[in-house]
Amino acid sequence: MNLIKATSRLVILTIAFSSAARADAVSKQNFEAKIGYCQDCHGPSGQGYRGFYPIPRLAGQQTEYLENQLRAFVEHRRTNNIMFNVAHNLSPTMIRALATNFRHFNPRPLGGAPKNLVAAGKKIFEDGVPSANIVACAACHGPDATGKDEFPRLAGQIYPYVVKTLSNWGKERGQIPGKPDTSAVMQPVVHSLTKSQIEAVAAYVSYLR
Ligand code: HEC
Ligand code: HEC
Repeated sequence: MNLIKATSRLVILTIAFSSAARADAVSKQNFEAKIGYCQDCHGPSGQGYRGFYPIPRLAGQQTEYLENQLRAFVEHRRTNNIMFNVAHNLSPTMIRALATNFRHFNPRPLGGAPKNLVAAGKKIFEDGVPSANIVACAACHGPDATGKDEFPRLAGQIYPYVVKTLSNWGKERGQIPGKPDTSAVMQPVVHSLTKSQIEAVAAYVSYLR
């Protein structure tokens, strides 16, 4: 008798919880369809793509950073037509779910950057460029370049994507003057880096696992 009562209470509780959860969550089918769509461009394990138009690695990326970038594309704080079209009709819950998804992927970096630049890049990453007032990248991105929260992981990021991103920073990020965002933190860094320093540090991080 007691057991039956307890069981039926459990059933009622389960129903109550799962319908509350469903109202707020994205359907599994919808989520998997979206992930498949992301993987068409970003690669089956989020490893990125080195092509004419480099597509960044999402694997192992910080959830907070990914979520913030998806919102930045939607709000035009970060300009990119492809990603605006991808992201503008995603619900906040879906954005969160997608951003969380890639965190635990861990494919090998694609590599392919000029190896002769790696040593110079390591030095910039670890020590900065004191003569140009450039702070060590490691101070914010972490000693292993794995990032934390809004500070993105750079380890394994696609070389031509990092070169392009650092070269175009002021034209692509923080594009709403009245709405400054986390991209402002990088502004003094990119402002002072030369083209060859950008290539060196991009080569270094692209090989990190
Ligand atoms: C048609 C190809 C395409 C599809 C589909 C696509 N992306 Fe992208 N994505 C890109 C390109 C290209 C960039 C680089 C944009 C740039 O250079 O600023 C990018 C950049 C991003 C970034 C910024 C990464 C960083 O390191 O700052 C995130 C986050 C992202 N995509 C998430 C997603 C998610 C989630 C999906 C699936 C819902 C998705 N993308 C689907 C092409 C695509
Ligand atoms: C003071 C902290 C700080 C320092 C120092 C710093 N960064 Fe960043 N970096 C950030 C933040 C915060 C972001 C995220 C910006 C955003 O939200 O748009 C970022 C973003 C980036 C991105 C974009 C990643 C992506 O996936 O698109 C690259 C590349 C990058 N940093 C490289 C570097 C390099 C190379 C150095 C050293 C020369 C460096 N950073 C030094 C804070 C820092």
